[in-house]
Amino acid sequence: MNVRIYKDAKTIGTAAATLFTACVIEKPDCVLGLATGSTPIPTYEKMAELYRDGVVDYAGVTTYNLDEYVGLDHGHDQSYYYFMQENLFRHINVKEENVHVLSGIAPDPEQECSEYERAIEAAGGIDLQILGIGRNGHIAFNEPADSFAPATHVVELTESTIDANKRFFASADDVPRRALTTGIGTIMKARAIVLIATGADKAEAVRAMVKEPVSPRCPASILQFHPNATILLDEAAASLL
Ligand code: F6R
Repeated sequence: MNVRIYKDAKTIGTAAATLFTACVIEKPDCVLGLATGSTPIPTYEKMAELYRDGVVDYAGVTTYNLDEYVGLDHGHDQSYYYFMQENLFRHINVKEENVHVLSGIAPDPEQECSEYERAIEAAGGIDLQILGIGRNGHIAFNEPADSFAPATHVVELTESTIDANKRFFASADDVPRRALTTGIGTIMKARAIVLIATGADKAEAVRAMVKEPVSPRCPASILQFHPNATILLDEAAASLL
């Protein structure tokens, strides 16, 4: 793990956007793995700025998002598809047909997961994956568990995650209880990974990810075994290292 500490979230956004922009410049038909949540927003803002400045062209890029809530269609304003449109896709020239987000309303969620897993492989695998981390150490919606999930699957969200995400909904009762998520195995196949953590509420998860033995009780700790994982932290998130 390559751990880098920055002064604030905005600077991290610039660093991460630089890595993503470089990836697209080097490989214009690359496959990007994308995340939602608060953490990647400064990165997406900077990626959009670099696109507007003519630094980078997304016309040949393919994207796969990590996860989606079960029960929310892509038009729902809390769906992760909607989030991606608002925060990144409509600000860059990625082609609609090259954008992939799991469907939360697929009639057969298990089939949706296996088709998604196959589609990532058929696209040649993910070149660069961005990740956030949950306060409980989750990555994507891979919650603390007894084993690492190998592939894309349906998951029951924990109370910790529902509590963390209720800020986006009218109440905690409105947060979906289930999600579709790429697996730990899916994430580990990405050729390069950038995980961002900002804020003191991530400090304990970051400590467990970096300092503790690899364990599915802290799913992000698996990144210790990834050959090309970069961890970008602000000082608050790094405070227990
Ligand atoms: C989102 C995702 C989640 C978030 C994590 C942190 O696609 O996969 O694992 O990265 O819950 O969320 P924020 O960034 O809102 O603190």
